[in-house]
Amino acid sequence: DTAAPIVVAIDGPAGSGKSSVSKAAAVRLGYGFLDTGAAYRALAWHALAHGADTSDASAVLDVFGDFDYAISLDTDDRWVRVGETDVTTAIREPRVTDAVSGVARVAPVRKAVNELFRRLVASSGLPGVVVEGRDITTVVYPDAPVRILLTAAPEVRAARRSKELTNQDAAAVAAALHRRDAADSTVVDFLTAAPGVEVVDSTHLDFEQTVDAVLSVVETTMGAR
Ligand code: DC
Repeated sequence: DTAAPIVVAIDGPAGSGKSSVSKAAAVRLGYGFLDTGAAYRALAWHALAHGADTSDASAVLDVFGDFDYAISLDTDDRWVRVGETDVTTAIREPRVTDAVSGVARVAPVRKAVNELFRRLVASSGLPGVVVEGRDITTVVYPDAPVRILLTAAPEVRAARRSKELTNQDAAAVAAALHRRDAADSTVVDFLTAAPGVEVVDSTHLDFEQTVDAVLSVVETTMGAR
């Protein structure tokens, strides 16, 4: 039987803990996990590999023409590939993070990757998939049975991010985070919840409490169906 997977859509800004929380929620639900930001990062990596100017939409579209990527939905075995190259760790490098907003701004790119996300999820054969990004609750899966906006106060997000990036200056990390949010939020609004989207604010929650809060929204929403 090929019933469509149940989608748990989660959006939020950088440093909200979205990726790790979404992945942990997926593990507890026995679902797959799709990190859509990784696709935009893979494209930024690909553009940089071709020496393209990522602030130039037409240059991005040129390299998008032969962008061939694959991404794992498996919570135990996460990888991202561009062609034959495994870029799982390379896409987290600061040079990619700095370039990613430029490629994510290009509308035809967004349209194409969104279609790919839906195909990937639909053909996964999984009971459900937690899909995480910026426009999942509003554009990619506006009809998902569970839609969550994961937020945290900006200073808390900056503090968490600089804890992750221990070798970098905290003030610089905070500035880069705010700069990226400002750039990204001109493309999609991930700072306010669309109608019907549940807000989980992790400002005063630790990691496990945030995962529990997400799972409690999943249970309540699914139970009410
Ligand atoms: O979540 P992240 O930091 O890995 O995302 C990388 C970039 O991709 C982010 O700066 C914004 C963009 N993005 C997007 O525009 N839409 C998504 N659904 C996911 C990410």
